[in-house]
Amino acid sequence: MITVQDLKPLRQQILEWRKKDKIIGFVPTMGALHKGHLSLVEAAQEECDHVVVSIFINPLQFAFGEDFGRYPRQLGSDALLLKEAKTSLLYTPTTEIMYPENFSSKVIVTPDLTEKLCGATRHGHFEGVATVVTKLFNQVQPDKAFFGEKDYQQLLVIKKITADLDLPVHIVGVPTMREPDGLALSSRNQYISPNDRQTAGLLQQTLRWVKRSLRDAMPHEYPALCEVASNKLLTAGFDKVDYVQILHIPSLTPIHDRAHLSSARIFAAAYLNKTRLIDNIVAG
Ligand code: PAJ
Repeated sequence: MITVQDLKPLRQQILEWRKKDKIIGFVPTMGALHKGHLSLVEAAQEECDHVVVSIFINPLQFAFGEDFGRYPRQLGSDALLLKEAKTSLLYTPTTEIMYPENFSSKVIVTPDLTEKLCGATRHGHFEGVATVVTKLFNQVQPDKAFFGEKDYQQLLVIKKITADLDLPVHIVGVPTMREPDGLALSSRNQYISPNDRQTAGLLQQTLRWVKRSLRDAMPHEYPALCEVASNKLLTAGFDKVDYVQILHIPSLTPIHDRAHLSSARIFAAAYLNKTRLIDNIVAG
């Protein structure tokens, strides 16, 4: 595995692969890698000749007071995992490389996609994601880029910028990897205390309860169902629920017709202590 920190050696290597007509796959991450990340690397390997993984904890996508400072940093063990997974190139740019002092541009996506669900409370988050991913795409110039369905709103935002800005990359969504009790793998799971760990699994189980209940509910009852689910989470020990919502994909608009459930997902975000967990599953 080649490891590079600077743009110049990255571009040189990419150029060499391009000359040989190699298909380049890309998996952007913020590190603290787990099997979810590695499933993206595997998916990329199946479809591409070379897989590039980036590790960059993007300050732009953390709002003031969020966990940027304590976000797990474990580059050594991450690099080992990626090497074992037969990654071709690991790109670890510094903040100075990504955002030099005079950096002043941003990629902004329509509020209908970015100001609901996670965007309603994480102000500027998707602007930060869209900006860093656009930069990473321009730096790596991949043929295909792989994103997890665990961050479904992020996946939709990336698809939108790619289409709107004619970015020459194909976006591939990869299903969520979970623990045996259903908890979606996440770098932030490291924050969950042993006492709270069992409760964490109830987030996905509650989403499944909503999905089952949807079978006998009318669309006007969906908001009430989400409210019940939210109360279930609070009773189970979650400290705060940001949202439980059923929304159409890819518009992220409410569902008014049962026939549309097959193209909808159920989304939730809730806090265990200060740890914010998110998840989503298909509704129909
Ligand atoms: P990060 O949270 O490190 O996630 C990197 C990629 O791994 C994302 O596409 C995410 O959806 C995916 N992923 C995380 N957990 C997963 C799971 N349990 N199953 C499948 N895929 C999973 O998402 C980011 O970083 C950043 O916002 C980034 C896109 C790198 C931009 O900074």
